[in-house]
Order: sequence, then C-alpha cells, then structure tokens
Amino acid sequence: MKGGVGKTTLTKELGYFMADSKKKKILFIDLDPQSNLTQSFFLTY
Ligand SMILES: Nc1ncnc2c1ncn2[C@@H]1O[C@H](COP(=O)(O)OP(=O)(O)OP(=O)(O)O)[C@@H](O)[C@H]1O
Ligand SMILES: [Mg+2]
Repeated sequence: MKGGVGKTTLTKELGYFMADSKKKKILFIDLDPQSNLTQSFFLTY
C-alpha cells in the first residue's frame, strides 16, 4: 500500500460517524485525482 498519514481515512470515518450515529446528512467532496475517498465507498473494486 502507499504511504499517507490517514487524511482520507479520517475524513471518511468522521463523516460516516456523523451520518450513522448522529443521523446527519453528509456530503463528501473528493477533489483528489487519486479518488481514494470515492473508491472507499464502492462495494466492489
Ligand atoms: N488508523 C489507522 N490504522 C491503520 N491503518 C490506517 C489508519 N488510518 C489509515 N490507515 C491506512 O493507511 C493508508 C493511508 O491512509 P490514507 O489513504 O487515509 O492516507 P492519506 O493521508 O489520505 O494519503 P494521501 O496523501 O496519499 O492521500 C491506507 O492504507 C489506510 O488504510
Ligand atoms: Mg488521501
């Protein structure tokens, strides 16, 4: 796997927590050309 310090992972998990536990409506905006955040929501690769 590549490097990284968990920016994308933390963003996703915080958003997921707010949506799931706090019932907030969350919009994830992925500006990274790598699109790791978008891909993390795919059910299959
Ligand atoms: N808390 C954690 N424990 C273990 N592994 C983690 C944790 N957070 C992230 N990772 C792993 O570390 C790797 C890099 O995480 P992530 O993609 O979130 O980093 P990033 O900072 O967004 O990287 P980039 O700068 O390339 O976008 C991934 O393989 C991810 O699964
Ligand atoms: Mg990232």
